Amino acid sequence: MSHSKSSTRWLARNNADPYVREARAQGLPSRAAFKLEEIHQRDRLLRKGMTVVDLGAAPGGWSQVAAGVVGESGRVFALDLLPLPKQDELAKLGVEFIQGDFREAVIAEQLLAALAGRRVDLLLSDMSPNLCGIPSVDQPRAMHLAELADEFAMRVLNPGASMLVKVFQGSGFDAFHKQLQSHFGTVTIRKPKSSRPESREVYLLARNFKSLSFV
Ligand SMILES: C[S@@+](CC[C@H](N)C(=O)[O-])C[C@H]1O[C@@H](n2cnc3c(N)ncnc32)[C@H](O)[C@@H]1O
Repeated sequence: MSHSKSSTRWLARNNADPYVREARAQGLPSRAAFKLEEIHQRDRLLRKGMTVVDLGAAPGGWSQVAAGVVGESGRVFALDLLPLPKQDELAKLGVEFIQGDFREAVIAEQLLAALAGRRVDLLLSDMSPNLCGIPSVDQPRAMHLAELADEFAMRVLNPGASMLVKVFQGSGFDAFHKQLQSHFGTVTIRKPKSSRPESREVYLLARNFKSLSFV
């Protein structure tokens, strides 16, 4: 299919998507915002005053939702490869943004430096690689990002904290699920209605982080 035909199809699907229309109407940067809202409505993840890290934050939907709940007494540290289109507006809501590739140790160190010793109450990761459609290529890339989010969580989470991380069902999923179960009190799978049903994307919600003395 030609590039312009697939773009036209994407545009048509996007314009027909009720979540895209609702995001525009509510001034939210992305339809992804509804995934976090839905999970928050059910699981009460966010609270006033929390320190939140948002990995893979662009274009900024989750950060905007999180900043709205944690309020002025809380903090949101967002990171993405790409710039945040509404960075100034989000900064006014208290979102601190770092642009860079989370696979690079130096970028994770920058985020640690920004946290300045503050422990994190909720770590969010909606990071997703550029999917090429070949599972044997996409799946390890996606799992690697989830692994990095978990490694970072081990370093910064408060005992009792939570993590919400995007993963794709497929190779490595069960092992990662088990790994989280060893670090957290409970781990549940969430597939919000706003997550496209045809996508293998799901979210693992890990709660009650057990403090590990050896990290
Ligand atoms: C589905 S989008 C996130 C949407 C976001 N949660 C929102 O509400 O607007 C996935 C993001 O992961 C980011 N990403 C992918 N690989 C990354 C990496 N290695 N480091 C940082 N961000 C990455 C992409 O740039 C993309 O913006």
